[in-house]
Amino acid sequence: MSENDVKVQNERRKVVLSGIQPTGVITLGNYVGAVSNWDKMQDEYDSIFFIADLHALTVRREPAEFRQGCMSFFAQLLACGIDPERAVLYFQSHVPAHTELQWILNCNTYVGEASRMTQFKDKSARHADNINMGLMDYPVLMAADILLFRSDLVPVGIDQKQHLELARDIAIRFNNRYGDTFVVPDGYIPKTGAKVCSLSDPTSKMSKSDPDPNGWVSVIEDEASIMKKFKRAVTDSGSEIVARPDKPGISNLLAIYSVMTGKSVEAAEKEFAGCGYGTFKTAVGEAVVEKFRPIREAYARFAADKAYIAEVAKAGAEKAARIAARTLSKVKRKVGLVSFDR
Ligand code: TRP
Repeated sequence: MSENDVKVQNERRKVVLSGIQPTGVITLGNYVGAVSNWDKMQDEYDSIFFIADLHALTVRREPAEFRQGCMSFFAQLLACGIDPERAVLYFQSHVPAHTELQWILNCNTYVGEASRMTQFKDKSARHADNINMGLMDYPVLMAADILLFRSDLVPVGIDQKQHLELARDIAIRFNNRYGDTFVVPDGYIPKTGAKVCSLSDPTSKMSKSDPDPNGWVSVIEDEASIMKKFKRAVTDSGSEIVARPDKPGISNLLAIYSVMTGKSVEAAEKEFAGCGYGTFKTAVGEAVVEKFRPIREAYARFAADKAYIAEVAKAGAEKAARIAARTLSKVKRKVGLVSFDR
């Protein structure tokens, strides 16, 4: 993305920004809900994507494993088609403006607001032994991520909607207090397959934290393992292959098949009319394997080339830092910090 695009406010293309936490592997759920949409958006928007490594520190991590996981995650994003020629891609921790802006936003956010966030309450309950400040400050860092780049559109999963609302509230409050500074962003919840459900419990979201590893597959998983999990996928009573609320298992598999093949759910229903569940599950597994094969192959190449990842990540961070610096200096001026720049 060219910085001029951002500079020329009148003619600027819309800025789309999103972050993803580096939690080991990109699952089918992450792929359908986030990364595949990022891939599609790169041509249409000025795209900024980053690995939210600072957000990930709100949970205790084993340092060596975490570092390696972050590198692997970067390679997985490249393999999924995030293209450094068309998007800015970097590690959040490499651009200090994120946390600098966070501080100023902290001073414009109320403890009451932050402590009311559903995710904060959930995570506090789940990690009662580690309710750290970062956990409560998480959405303010996310607001900083978004507001730094004058983002217009922020693709997020449904579970992050409340955080996006808070970012909007903070932006509006700041603009009212100090004069027009931030773009108030819109959320973007993708239509197709916004939510992929667990293969072993189709009433809950597909998640790596699922204690049952049969519930999810990743973009770099080996083919035999993917096939095994799809063949075992939990289905519903009856034998019809149709998407209906009383058939969460079959509906989930149809949605996955639709996203993997680009066919509509209706077309898929027709294609499998009269087939047994077993045949259908095998076909869905094969579609996933086909879609992920080039990703797994590209991942192997990227993961083996640390120098390339370093080069791309550094260049991405430099570009991001240049864009962010403009917003940050404006914010500092607005709140009355001394500056000796012109
Ligand atoms: N909190 C987001 C999630 O877990 C990740 C994230 C961090 C993000 N910063 C962001 C998403 C900014 C969108 C915009 O999904």
